[in-house]
Amino acid sequence: SDPTLVARARAAKEALGERVFVLGHHYQRDEVIAFADVTGDSFKLAREAAARPEAPYVVFCGVHFMAESADILTSDGQQVVLPDLAAGCSMADMATDLQVRECWEALEAAGAAATTVPVAYMNSSAAIKAFTGRHGGTICTSSNARQSLEWAFGQGERVLFLPDQHLGRNTAVLQLGLGLDDCVVWDPHKPHGGLAPEQLRAAKVVLWRGHCSVHGRFSAQNVADVRERVPGVTVLVHPECRHEVVTAADLVGSTEFIIKALDEAPSGSAFAVGTELNLVSRLAQAHPDKQVVFLDRTVCYCSTMNRIDLPHLVWALESLVEGRVPNRIVVDEDTAHWARVALERMLALPG
Ligand code: 13P
Ligand code: SF4
Repeated sequence: SDPTLVARARAAKEALGERVFVLGHHYQRDEVIAFADVTGDSFKLAREAAARPEAPYVVFCGVHFMAESADILTSDGQQVVLPDLAAGCSMADMATDLQVRECWEALEAAGAAATTVPVAYMNSSAAIKAFTGRHGGTICTSSNARQSLEWAFGQGERVLFLPDQHLGRNTAVLQLGLGLDDCVVWDPHKPHGGLAPEQLRAAKVVLWRGHCSVHGRFSAQNVADVRERVPGVTVLVHPECRHEVVTAADLVGSTEFIIKALDEAPSGSAFAVGTELNLVSRLAQAHPDKQVVFLDRTVCYCSTMNRIDLPHLVWALESLVEGRVPNRIVVDEDTAHWARVALERMLALPG
């Protein structure tokens, strides 16, 4: 990266000292990760954001829904900054507040809402998290989806899981032992979600038709190909991958899990990793004694995670030095209250 920008980022961080806390998601570029005070998966970053009340400025190098969650979980005096407001998440955009309310009304009309518990993936807007909190539900991340679903089944008979159908299906089937036919898919673009009231009543899990545009591209064929190309390879994928990919893989887990699995693997072992490219490239560099290959060489970066680059970070930090708070992420009070209810239910789950 540009040495002038590196020097400017360093100088701005030094000038801010303890007043700024920089969080970096594992999918961020190397040039941004270099300035993160802490890196993590979505769950770890949510906890870390809540644990730094002394820093007035929290610069979130990740995507919009993560910065919203940080605003919800930080204390009143703290301000959360997203270095580029265009860093959204296509999956989070697949469930709007209006669409989710329509789905809930259909559950009500089917006489199924009272026994349904919503579980929203972290990758959702604050409005969806608030909806979940208002309706007795919880949030989950890829590292605690099992615990969240188990908790939800202790509260009701059926789960509305949104917006990632793959994480929902993979967790329900592979970790809770439910059948594929216990799950139905609600399509927000079809009248009544494309489901009859009796299908809603019979389902154990109502999955939202949403997916990650990066992980959705991995295929079972990629897994078969890499096994042929790299003998003895361990295939390690993120649970946002499609069900047939996850069942064909050897290990499945969040970004933090993937990093740990590579750290703990013996020297000389071979891994094919099915997740975002910035992380996979960093893992390959960090483990020269291991073979780390990308599960599908044609799958690319998460384009919105990549919006945060060094120029945006420098701009954000220098603005703070000058006393301006750029790109502040603020969730309105009522939404924040109910979203916090749901997030705190998640944070209270057994680890
Ligand atoms: P985790 O970091 O929780 O594994 O999530 C991956 C992701 O897609 C974040 O957008
Ligand atoms: Fe969203 Fe997928 Fe990018 Fe994560 S990797 S931010 S789920 S689009």
